[in-house]
Amino acid sequence: MPEPTDLPSPTIAPAEGRLGVVCVGLGAVATTFIAGVELARRGMGAPIGSLTQLGTVRLGKRTEGRTPAVGELVPLAGLDDLVFGAWDPYPDDAYVSAVNAGVLDAARHLEPIADALRAIRPMAAAFDPAYVKKLDGPNVMPSRAKRAMLEGVRSDLQAFREQHGCDRVVMVWCGSTEIYVEPGPQHADLDAFEAAIDIDDPTITPSMLYAYAALLEGVPFANGAPNLTVDAPVLRRFASDHGVPICGKDFKTGQTMVKTVLAPMFKARMLGMDGWYSTNILGNRDGEVLDDPESFRTKEHSKLGVLDTILQPEVYPELYGDLDHVVRINYYPPRGDNKEGWDNIDFFGWLGYPMQLKVNLLCRDSILAAPLALDLALFLDLAQRAGMGGIQEWLSFYFKAPQVAPGLYPEHDLFIQLTKLKNTLRWMAGEEQITHLGVEYYAEDYLPQD
Ligand SMILES: NC(=O)c1ccc[n+]([C@@H]2O[C@H](COP(=O)([O-])OP(=O)(O)OC[C@H]3O[C@@H](n4cnc5c(N)ncnc54)[C@H](O)[C@@H]3O)[C@@H](O)[C@H]2O)c1
Repeated sequence: MPEPTDLPSPTIAPAEGRLGVVCVGLGAVATTFIAGVELARRGMGAPIGSLTQLGTVRLGKRTEGRTPAVGELVPLAGLDDLVFGAWDPYPDDAYVSAVNAGVLDAARHLEPIADALRAIRPMAAAFDPAYVKKLDGPNVMPSRAKRAMLEGVRSDLQAFREQHGCDRVVMVWCGSTEIYVEPGPQHADLDAFEAAIDIDDPTITPSMLYAYAALLEGVPFANGAPNLTVDAPVLRRFASDHGVPICGKDFKTGQTMVKTVLAPMFKARMLGMDGWYSTNILGNRDGEVLDDPESFRTKEHSKLGVLDTILQPEVYPELYGDLDHVVRINYYPPRGDNKEGWDNIDFFGWLGYPMQLKVNLLCRDSILAAPLALDLALFLDLAQRAGMGGIQEWLSFYFKAPQVAPGLYPEHDLFIQLTKLKNTLRWMAGEEQITHLGVEYYAEDYLPQD
């Protein structure tokens, strides 16, 4: 195995022509994402929260003053080159869906771009209410047979590409959280997976069919929900065998983002922890879907994983060996998309004295998720133009349960993830890695003088 730094930087094809961005699901996140891009390209809104639009990357020494914007360091598709499409079981166009979602102020942010939003009408969804028990819309494909749904998504992708003159297409899952599915023998290899599709095996979910259709069409796939989807070994392997980038899962937006900043703080100071209790209220359609215990189970898995990996109770049993980690989500319609999260952390310090930290986060779910969807679309397209197929671990920054190669543990610490992302951009651009060692600034002080 070569050391990562021995791998030659890739040659990146230019970002010419149109980039199709197809969203599975045209709900709160997708419409906030699409509307935000439209407002930004008309100069009517700022893409705040998006690293691709606002971020910079330091290059070389701190004395060099080289900090290009992300888009100057690597060639990204411009906002004007994006064309949007979506599938949803509800027939509402993006304007109506955005009004219903209630995230953006209709007079200020939807009316002025109503023409563009109304033009985005969802394609008939590959949907089966068995997997999202709280929803049942009429805008669905005529057959629920899995083979037919797979072929339906493939032909939708081909037609979309053709109709909009797209040079490249990426798919972002902004759809609902499906019921919990364990990886099984049906997901082990291509023969088993294909056979399972043909017999309508219940462990083949609609999200897997979208993802498989995307990979068959050479379309990179980002998984914004906690569904198994491209974590299924067969799809992971298919993506790397065919050089198609994938990443997931579950956008890291609110409570988990905060958790993956705070937990490393306690760990860095070797402070112990007895318990971390997290609860949320939210009232959007996502909250309604998560009110179903089977969908919540999928979400719970992705939310619970982060603390163990960061705190390493097996390495520090006296600090974290007896930690109670609880996560609750409560559906509370009056709040709509404005989620409120509470965290109570019971930690202890010197000589075991107990202390507490309370966090009350009042956020807007889709306002935090939309820039992530944009960055993922642009970075997946970049990865594909750079010939980087399979799992994109450098995009862990965006996910609650990041995909990693088998045998690796995921990095959850937000700032390790950011370092990983920026170092990957430096590597792609043929620039040196930043190690933060910094002894070179003190060479005169440290090195023996003649
Ligand atoms: N901050 C966040 O908002 C955040 C963070 C992490 C993850 N997520 C996840 O992102 C997803 C979208 O969140 P949202 O708030 O937009 O939810 P939403 O309910 O507003 O939108 C999801 C849409 O997906 C549609 N859908 C469901 N199954 C589908 C299928 N098979 N094909 C096509 N469309 C389908 C639904 O009809 C719905 O309109 C959810 O899974 C959510 O858990 C959101």
